[in-house]
Amino acid sequence: MKRGDLLSLGDLTPDRVHHLLSCALELKANRRRLSYLAGKTLALVFQKPSLRTRVSFDVAMEELGGHAIYLGPDEVGLGKREPIPDVARVLSQYVDGVAARVFRHGDIQEMARTAAVPVINALSDFCHPCQGLADLLTLREHFGQLDGIRLGYIGDGNNVAHALVFAAGKVGLHLTVASPHGYQCDAAVVEQARREAASTGGQIVLTSDPTEAARDADALYTDVWTSMGQEHETARRRSDFVSYRIDQRLLDLARPEAIVLHDLPAHRGEEITDDVIEGPQSVVFQQAGNRLHAQKAVLLWLMAEADEHVV
Ligand code: CP
Ligand code: NVA
Repeated sequence: MKRGDLLSLGDLTPDRVHHLLSCALELKANRRRLSYLAGKTLALVFQKPSLRTRVSFDVAMEELGGHAIYLGPDEVGLGKREPIPDVARVLSQYVDGVAARVFRHGDIQEMARTAAVPVINALSDFCHPCQGLADLLTLREHFGQLDGIRLGYIGDGNNVAHALVFAAGKVGLHLTVASPHGYQCDAAVVEQARREAASTGGQIVLTSDPTEAARDADALYTDVWTSMGQEHETARRRSDFVSYRIDQRLLDLARPEAIVLHDLPAHRGEEITDDVIEGPQSVVFQQAGNRLHAQKAVLLWLMAEADEHVV
C-alpha cells in the first residue's frame, strides 16, 4: 500500500503541513547527503516546461540517496501515445514514485488512482502544491510563524493562487486575493479553505481591488497573467490584468518591512515591475531555493521506509 499522494494542498491536514515545514527547515539547516531514499527512483513525467520543479526534484532525490528520471512531453505522450492508467501501471513496476506536471488536474488524479506508487503533483491547471509549501516555508523563515501573517496575492486566481488559498486555511494566514472579474479563484476552493480557516484562525478575502490586497500586507505575491497552456489568451489577459501589477506604488501600501514573492518565471513589466522584483524587499530567489527543501520533506514523507521516515 502506498503511503499517499500529494495532489493538492487541500488534501493535507494542517498537522501534515506543519510537519513538512519543520522537516524542510531541518533539512535546509543541515544540508548534506542522506541515504533515506537509497536505491529509490522518482519518475518526472512532465507535459510542460520547467526549470525549478524539474531541477529541484532531481537534486532532492540525489541528496536523499536516490535518483530521478526525467520524461519530457515528447517521450511519454501522456494520454496520447498511451492512456494514463497504462503509463501509471507500467511506471509502478520500475520506480518508487512519480512527480507529474500536467495540464488537466483530472489527469494527475487518474494517475494517482491507477499507480501503485506515490504520485506528486508537480503542477496542474488546478493546483501547485509543491510551490505552496515552498511559499509557506519562505514566509515562516521571514516571520517565524504563519498564523496571522497578512499575505496579499494580486493576479490570476490560478493554480498558484489555489495553493495559497488552501495554505491559508491550513496554517491561519490572512490572505487577500485581488483578481479581475472573471479570473477569481474557484469558489469551492475558497469555501473549503474558509471552513478550515474557522479552526486555524485564517482569513480568505476575495476582492477585485489590488490596493485592498496590498494595504498593510506583510507580504505581496503575484504570478504570471497567462499560465502555461493559456497562450492563446495572452492578448486579452494583458488587457484585463493591466491594473494588477505589483509596482512600487502598490508596494508602498504594504508594511515598510513587507516582502515580495513570485513563484517564477516572472514576466517583468507585466505582473511585476523590474525595480520591485530586483529590489530589496524581493525574496523570490530564496523562495525558489526553498522548492528544494520543501520537496525533500515531501519525498521523505511519501517515499522513505516507514521505520526511517522523518516526517
Ligand atoms: N515555479 C515553478 O514551478 O517553476 P518551473 O515552472 O520552472 O518549475
Ligand atoms: N501559473 C503558472 C505557474 C508556473 C510555475 C503556470 O501554470 O504556468
